[in-house]
Amino acid sequence: MKHAGILLLLASISIPAVASAETDDLASFRSEARAASMRFMKQLAGEMKAALGSGGPVKALSVCKDKAPAITGEQSRLRGWKMTRVSLKYRNPMLGMPDDWEAAQLQAFEQRRAKGEKPDRMEVAEIVTDPTGRKYYRYMKAIGTRPMCLMCHGDPATISPEIRRTLETLYPHDLATGFKAGDIRGAISIKAPVEQD
Ligand code: HEC
Repeated sequence: MKHAGILLLLASISIPAVASAETDDLASFRSEARAASMRFMKQLAGEMKAALGSGGPVKALSVCKDKAPAITGEQSRLRGWKMTRVSLKYRNPMLGMPDDWEAAQLQAFEQRRAKGEKPDRMEVAEIVTDPTGRKYYRYMKAIGTRPMCLMCHGDPATISPEIRRTLETLYPHDLATGFKAGDIRGAISIKAPVEQD
C-alpha cells in the first residue's frame, strides 16, 4: 500500500513535469526554426534581387530552382532536421508537395489570410505523433508573395514567353502560377525528431 501511494504521488507529479519539459523544448525549437526560416527567406530574396540585376529572370529562376533547395538541404544536414518549402499549389511535386500535416496548416493559414492576417506573420509549431508512434517537432512559416515573385508565379498571361517556355519544359504539371502580391505562396516547413528514451 505504501508503495502504491508513492507511485501514485510520482505519477501525479511526473506527468506535468514531462509536459512542461516538452513545452520548453517546443518553445526553443520554435525560436530556432523561426530564426533559420527568416535567415533563409532573407538570403533567398537577396540572391533573387542580385540575379535579376545581373542575369535577368532566367538566372533568377535558378535561385528558386537550385539555390533554395541547396540551402534547405544544407540546413537539414547541419542541424539534423528536415527543412523544405511546400505549397498547396506547388511547382515541383518532388519537393513542394505538402504532407497531410503541412496541407492542414497551409489551409489554416489560408483561413487566417481570408480574415486579413498578413502571411509573413503566420507560423505554427507543434509536437506531432506519426502513425508509428514517433514524435516530431514540426514548424511552418508562411511565405508571402511579393511583386517580384509574380514574374514566375503570377498570372500566366503576364509571364514573359521566355520564362513560360522554360517553366513548361521543366514543370509540365506546374500549379504555382496565378498568385497575386500578398497571397500565401507557400511555407517553409521544418521537422525534427523528438529525442525519446
Ligand atoms: C525567375 C523565376 C522565379 C521567381 C522570380 C520566383 N520563383 Fe519561386 N519558383 C520558381 C521555380 C522554377 C520553382 C520550382 C523550384 C524547384 O524545382 O524546386 C519555384 C518554387 C518556389 C517554391 C517551392 C514550392 C513550389 O511551388 O514548388 C516557393 C515557396 C517559391 N518558389 C516562392 C517564391 C517566392 C516567395 C518568390 C518571390 C520572392 C519567388 N518564388 C520568385 C521560380 C521563380
